[in-house]
Amino acid sequence: MNHIKVKTAGVSIINIDTCASTNTLAKEYAENGTSEKTVIIAKMQTGGRGRMGRSFFSPENTGLYMSIILRPALTSDKALEITTAAAVAAARIIERACKSDVKIKWVNDIYKNGKKVCGILTEASVNTDSSINYAVLGIGVNLFKPQNGFPDDISSIADSVYDCGYNEELKNEFTVMLIDEFFSIYPIIGQNSFVSEYRSRSLITGRDIYILSDDKKIPAKADAIGDDYSLHVTLDDGSKRVLNSGDVSIKVK
Ligand code: BTN
Repeated sequence: MNHIKVKTAGVSIINIDTCASTNTLAKEYAENGTSEKTVIIAKMQTGGRGRMGRSFFSPENTGLYMSIILRPALTSDKALEITTAAAVAAARIIERACKSDVKIKWVNDIYKNGKKVCGILTEASVNTDSSINYAVLGIGVNLFKPQNGFPDDISSIADSVYDCGYNEELKNEFTVMLIDEFFSIYPIIGQNSFVSEYRSRSLITGRDIYILSDDKKIPAKADAIGDDYSLHVTLDDGSKRVLNSGDVSIKVK
């Protein structure tokens, strides 16, 4: 990737060819005192990570794999808003790029026409008083069609933002737009300011879903997103539950 220039003041970008995971690398940098708004971008990852111990497909000439070091003045109970802010920013920019219908699948996935094109993984280090020491915001976007297609296990559920092969100019343009969009929202994180946009972009509200937790697959209906970005559901026996993102993921039926 050529040198890219963002509008947001104070952002410094570290471009690398490859690493296991930019999130892991960014955590090492953050532990060593690297300042907020440092962005690490890798051309490929050999061990890209997603939520709940899943892997994230990260070959060369396909996606954007980036991690941003943040030091927000927030307590850990607000850390989820880093993910949801990034989801809103990513949805806006993906929509601008592909001009298709773009939705957020609670809590951290972005879908284009019903297929996943982006995932977000935020990892935070928390002080004993519950303040956030640092957070690493990892964003992976399938930008281009992979040379050999998506692997069998995700080929029916994954897609790319652009309907073409690798194009460095488009990748640079997209990366700049996404970084600037995220940092335009970043100052208001913690105030639930964009929950209405998050709700209006929700892929699953009103739909039948499965709640995946441990080895269980529980059928339910997704009712609403709460003000704190929790997911309100009704189980098949009629009982209501409020889900927090830490322990579960969702599959659309
Ligand atoms: C998910 O799908 O659950 C989240 C995927 C997050 C992937 C990004 S790619 C950049 C950063 N490095 C990682 O190892 N993961 C995140």
